[in-house]
Amino acid sequence: MSILAPSILSGDFAYLGEDLKTIQNAGCKWVHVDVMDGNFVPNITIGIPTVAALRKYTDLILDVHLMIDRPVRYVDAFCKAGADYVTIHVEADTEENTLLALDKIHALGKKAAVSVKPNTPAQAVLPYLNKVDMILVMTVEPGFGGQSFMENQMEKLSALRDLCAARNPGCLLEVDGGVNAETGELCKENGARVLVAGSAFFKAEDKTAFVKAIER
Ligand code: DX5
Ligand code: ZN
Repeated sequence: MSILAPSILSGDFAYLGEDLKTIQNAGCKWVHVDVMDGNFVPNITIGIPTVAALRKYTDLILDVHLMIDRPVRYVDAFCKAGADYVTIHVEADTEENTLLALDKIHALGKKAAVSVKPNTPAQAVLPYLNKVDMILVMTVEPGFGGQSFMENQMEKLSALRDLCAARNPGCLLEVDGGVNAETGELCKENGARVLVAGSAFFKAEDKTAFVKAIER
């Protein structure tokens, strides 16, 4: 079964608590939280205090996507703030520091993931493959919600599905960017288990039906 993780980036930042209720009432178990630093990506969004505030308010699985430079500096803080999954980008630091960051996340009892931007090849995850609980394939350039799905990322997704099957069968594959009912099908066909959707979820009139369509 697939998992939908609605992205609160497309919610209303003045009413995040309401957004969490909307997500939960639609039948979701996960919520995706986009952290951006204005360096790794050209946008600034949520930080550690907001993640801590969300944690106090919900039992949903907090899927925290760090789009920040040198995340090794901050993974401890995001884990302690209550993240359940912490995703870092392979492009954001050296291999040594990325490995260290994954260890720090696990040492705090949380799930660790790496993400690849559209121009980063599948092979870039190889040094981390046996150390991750999830791999996130970006299907847009990270930074903003509401962009068009990049179908050309499906080849990478299916290559990663094969790599995981051979070397880390428990590893989840996640996609993020431009996911709707239609593009979500394509992602599932190519091995995605967790699907992030921002605009498509928040724009859906019948959110419960949207969740069911994605999760079936
Ligand atoms: C983009 C973010 C996504 C974003 C997805 O950098 O990582 O999580 O919220 O939004 P949609 O689903 O609108 O593309
Ligand atoms: Zn994201």
